Amino acid sequence: MKHPPTESFETVAIRTQAKRSGFQEHAVPIYTTSSFVFDSAEQARRRFAGEEEGMVYSRYANPNTDECSAKLIALEGAEDGLMTASGMAAVFCSLAALLKAGDHVVAARSLFGSTHQILNNILSGWQIDCSFVDGCQPDTWSEAVTDRSRMFILETPTNPSLDLVDLEAAAAFSQKHNLILNVDNCFATPYLQNPIQSGADLVTHSGTKFMDGQGRVIGGAIVGRTELIEPIRFFARHTGPSLSPFNAWILSKSLETLAVRMEAHCERALALARFLESSPEVAWVKYPHLPSHPQYDLALKQMRRGGALVSFELRGGLAQGQRFLDALKLLSLTANLGDTRSIATHPASTTHSKLTEEARLAAGVTPGLVRISAGLETQADILADVAQAIG
Ligand SMILES: Cc1ncc(COP(=O)(O)O)c(C=O)c1O
Repeated sequence: MKHPPTESFETVAIRTQAKRSGFQEHAVPIYTTSSFVFDSAEQARRRFAGEEEGMVYSRYANPNTDECSAKLIALEGAEDGLMTASGMAAVFCSLAALLKAGDHVVAARSLFGSTHQILNNILSGWQIDCSFVDGCQPDTWSEAVTDRSRMFILETPTNPSLDLVDLEAAAAFSQKHNLILNVDNCFATPYLQNPIQSGADLVTHSGTKFMDGQGRVIGGAIVGRTELIEPIRFFARHTGPSLSPFNAWILSKSLETLAVRMEAHCERALALARFLESSPEVAWVKYPHLPSHPQYDLALKQMRRGGALVSFELRGGLAQGQRFLDALKLLSLTANLGDTRSIATHPASTTHSKLTEEARLAAGVTPGLVRISAGLETQADILADVAQAIG
């Protein structure tokens, strides 16, 4: 792997590169191979025994997945990491590889719907239980800790309520109670926020979102401390949630433009949030870098910019929100986010629909909440479409 002699985000994202082949190609090729040839039976033995570095089999590692994880490790300031087939594979591996029957997890309540499903309906069947806390209330977290607690898992900003969890407070709490701090950084991306610098032990990503940024692939990653990544790598190697070389190539190439894309996403999202706040039809708007955000000071402290997501509710709640979504002409109605195309989503009936109503409300997902992922279309066109749909 070639590592650039700098710590500049953009240069690291562009110049961390797999070793060139004999063709001296400028762009890295896609290594669509399931296995790699050994020079001798002895070399095969050494590689399997871990006595010699080198490729063996693409479920374990591949030049494209290794290049992508090396970049992300550098961009997050982590010690080690690996790519996974999806963001949920990353979240699941980070839990399943490190927890055992009898362990307990403390979770900040506002989490992506599938993370809730893993904690409530999958790990519970393996005698791993979970208590949910309000991520915005650090003073209350210790009430959930038991002598079986092993991990604190959180997202910040949260999906879709865009609340923040204080990362330094989470690190201090985790250290005090000897918990692994596991942070889903998919909304902020390593460009806006580096939880490991604030004391997190593990960071997971859905590469599907801003890392690709163009709505083409499903992928994920876990980075963090070597002593935690090693058992996760063992788990992933033998259970097989590996990222395909093609998707790894896409994600690695896309990381090259993450900084410029995030700057443009954030500019459009901030303009949209300001516009919504000025509209008499809007009941409330949440955007981390709007002074009206209840955790604005924390947002300025831990996020370089406010991100690409804006959540809001129209006066008239659910019915008005549905009319708004149906009236959009440019924005797409999908369950994804982090695309060049601006996207509007109704989380209560889609991404968070499998939660009970009580759990949804506790996670800040009100029936009328609309989430917009600002894309990269011309800012005036995004605002004009939202304005005409509000009516
Ligand atoms: C915060 C968060 N984490 C994880 C995921 C899961 O990612 P993937 O769809 O790549 O499995 C999502 C998907 O929307 C998400 O929003």
